[in-house]
Amino acid sequence: MEYHVPIMLNECLEGLNIKPNGIYIDATFGGGGHSQAILNQLDKGKLIAFDQDADAMENRINDERFIFVHHNFKYLKNFLKYHGIQQVDGILADLGVSSHHFDEKERGFSYRFDSKLDMRMNTQSELSAIEVLNNYDLNELTRIFKEFGELSNAYKIAGLIVNYRKNNKITTTGQLFEAIKEITPANNEYKLYSKLFQAIRMEVNKELEVLQLFLNQAINVLKIGGRLAVITFHSLEDRLVKNFFKTGNFSGEVEKDFYGNILSPFKMITKKPLEASADELKKNSRAASAKLRIVEKIL
Ligand SMILES: C[S@@+](CC[C@H](N)C(=O)[O-])C[C@H]1O[C@@H](n2cnc3c(N)ncnc32)[C@H](O)[C@@H]1O
Repeated sequence: MEYHVPIMLNECLEGLNIKPNGIYIDATFGGGGHSQAILNQLDKGKLIAFDQDADAMENRINDERFIFVHHNFKYLKNFLKYHGIQQVDGILADLGVSSHHFDEKERGFSYRFDSKLDMRMNTQSELSAIEVLNNYDLNELTRIFKEFGELSNAYKIAGLIVNYRKNNKITTTGQLFEAIKEITPANNEYKLYSKLFQAIRMEVNKELEVLQLFLNQAINVLKIGGRLAVITFHSLEDRLVKNFFKTGNFSGEVEKDFYGNILSPFKMITKKPLEASADELKKNSRAASAKLRIVEKIL
C-alpha cells in the first residue's frame, strides 16, 4: 500500500519559490513525496526534513543534500543549530498524520479497525489514547471533544465514557464504540467516529500546541524573502495559521502604521487558502479538507 500521496504538490513547489542553492525545511516528511519534489528542484541546496514517527524514517532519501531529523518539529530551531544552519529559504509543513497512519491497524488511528487505541505519532511519547480516555476527567474530555472534535454533544459523550470506565478500562476501538452506543446514530455513525477520533488524536499529539511552537520558530529562522507554506486539515489549525500569518504572533497584538494599516512581518502569497483541484480530489479523497496558506517574510 502507498505510504502517502503528497497533497497539492505543484502548488507547494510553486509557492515555496525554490532557489536551486537554497536551504529548505520539510517539517513533516511522511512518505517523502514533497521532500523528493523539493530535492528535484535543488542544485547545491539542502533539505532538512523532520518526522517524529519512526516509520517515516524508512522512507529517508539517499541524497547527500538531504538531512533527516527524527524529532518533533517543535524543536526546529535547536536542530537547525545542531546542523550549523541559522536561516533558511523556505519551510513546508503538511500537518497531521499520513495515510500510512490510518492504514496501519496497530497504530490505532482508524475507527475502521477494532484495534488498541494508541494514536501516538511518536511511539516513544507517554500519552496515548488509552491514557486520555481512561484518565481525563469529565471536564477535560468534554473540552477536547468540543474544541478539537467540534462535537455538539461533547458533554454527553464524555459522561458516557466516564460511566463506562467505572467497570471497564477502555483500551480498544470496540470498547469505545460500546461506551457511546447510546448516542451513536444507527446510520452515518462514521461521522461521529471520525470527529471523536480526530479530537483524541489532536490531544494525544498536542497538535495545536506544537504548531504554535513551530510557527514561532519558523518566523525566526526564515530569511527575509523566504517562504512559509502550511497545509492544514482542521478549522482550528487553519485559524491559528491564518491569524499568525496576519500578525506574526499569537498574542492578538497587531502593530499598525501611521495610517492604521496592520504591520505584518509577512506578505500573503495566497490571499485565500488554496484547496485541492477537482482533478486531485478524484485521485485522492484525503485531500478534501486540505487548505494551503503561503506567506513570504518581509520584515
Ligand atoms: C500529512 S503527513 C506528511 C506527508 C508528506 N508531506 C508526504 O509527502 O508524504 C504528516 C507527517 O508529519 C509527521 N508529523 C506530524 N506532526 C509532527 C510533528 N509535530 N513533528 C514531527 N513530525 C510530525 C507525521 O508523523 C506524518 O508522517
